[in-house]
Amino acid sequence: MKAIIITGGAGFIGSHVVRLFVNKYPEYRIINVDKLTYAGNLANLKDIEDKPNYRFVKADICDFATIHRLMEEEQVTSVIHLAAESHVDRSIKDPFTFAQTNVMGTLSMLQAAKLYWETLPEKYEGKRFYHISTDEVYGALELTHPEGIESPFTTKASSEHHHAYGEKFFTEDLKYMPHSPYSASKASSDHFVRAFHDTYGMPTIVTNCSNNYGPYQFPEKLIPLFINNIRHRKPLPVYGKGENVRDWLYVEDHARAIDLIFHKGAIAETYNIGGFNEWKNIDIIHVLIKTVDRLLGRKEGEDLDLITYVTDRAGHDMRYAIDSRKLQRELGWEPSLQFEEGIEKTVRWYLDNQEWMDRITSGEYEKYYEDMYKNR
Ligand code: NAD
Ligand code: TYD
Repeated sequence: MKAIIITGGAGFIGSHVVRLFVNKYPEYRIINVDKLTYAGNLANLKDIEDKPNYRFVKADICDFATIHRLMEEEQVTSVIHLAAESHVDRSIKDPFTFAQTNVMGTLSMLQAAKLYWETLPEKYEGKRFYHISTDEVYGALELTHPEGIESPFTTKASSEHHHAYGEKFFTEDLKYMPHSPYSASKASSDHFVRAFHDTYGMPTIVTNCSNNYGPYQFPEKLIPLFINNIRHRKPLPVYGKGENVRDWLYVEDHARAIDLIFHKGAIAETYNIGGFNEWKNIDIIHVLIKTVDRLLGRKEGEDLDLITYVTDRAGHDMRYAIDSRKLQRELGWEPSLQFEEGIEKTVRWYLDNQEWMDRITSGEYEKYYEDMYKNR
């Protein structure tokens, strides 16, 4: 029987992965290990918290002794590692925390798994250490076509406008060139994961995904922050000229890719995950304004004047564009949702779940999850 530690399960992507695994695999034991930083919120998992195959453990991944003990106690067979500090702007202000959690925390998870698995007669057989990373480790691509060209590749996630903003894409064989303290810390953690395979034979897998969007994303990130600000008619701080390009994937499609790769991916491989769906920030912002205004019954374009150009992010990466053809070719992965559908679903979710948002933005959610934890 599989016993899987999922780290960072109270965060945005982690909560979708935990939900998928708990519901889809009642025969697995899912142990969600999360420190509950500002970004961790047990309310993200309310619908599955009472399931018999689910356990929440409040712990810091940097706490090696606790993690190692938990591995033994739960006889853990696999790790899906998502816990991280994830926001670029915070990493610019406070790089130490990023090195601590993302690098030392990942090392602590690796070493705990190694020491536990090496004591077993079967050792690494049937085991898996799956590390979730980002496309930001590859650095930034240039905006060689600011007006956009027809994208050479598409998936079901691609937007109706099918734009690419340059000829180059991130492929798995590219050299890492991280620019922000966040991406530098993720790159370093990826190297440690691969080093544990190459040195000790640990069965590792790494995936690098593009920007995710969808329900339960902490409202410091572009899409939930802007939906909430439009709703409350607060300014929308657009960094620089709003020309930066990101490649967006619906979070449940990322979770489905993780499920597939966890079960079918080859050991020591890297897979890029993305839907060929590039957007300039300013164009997404227009879509968000249009969608929120329509769903709230406001006049079309009424909130366009909330757009406020502000000083650019330091070292702001220009364009991310992921080439996920390997994953499609080798494992047959396809995203399920087209971008326009995904954005509609996402905006509706945030508008329908104002209470979730208010708890976070008012700071009350901290007390909320502390109380929930005390009562367990
Ligand atoms: P998030 O910030 O929403 O959640 C991170 C979670 O990790 C939180 O629940 C937090 O409490 C927990 N955590 C942080 N430090 C911890 C520690 N020291 N010990 C235990 N738990 C800790 O992040 P997210 O957006 O869901 O991202 C999850 C993972 O996916 C990260 O590794 C990130 O680098 C990667 N990723 C994110 C995106 C994206 O668009 N959000 C894209 C590609 C890859
Ligand atoms: P973000 O959601 O922080 O993700 P990442 O930096 O990991 O791509 O930002 C997405 C894009 O939106 C990025 O180019 C920065 C920009 N942005 C703004 O213009 N204003 C904002 O307030 C935020 C949070 C982001």
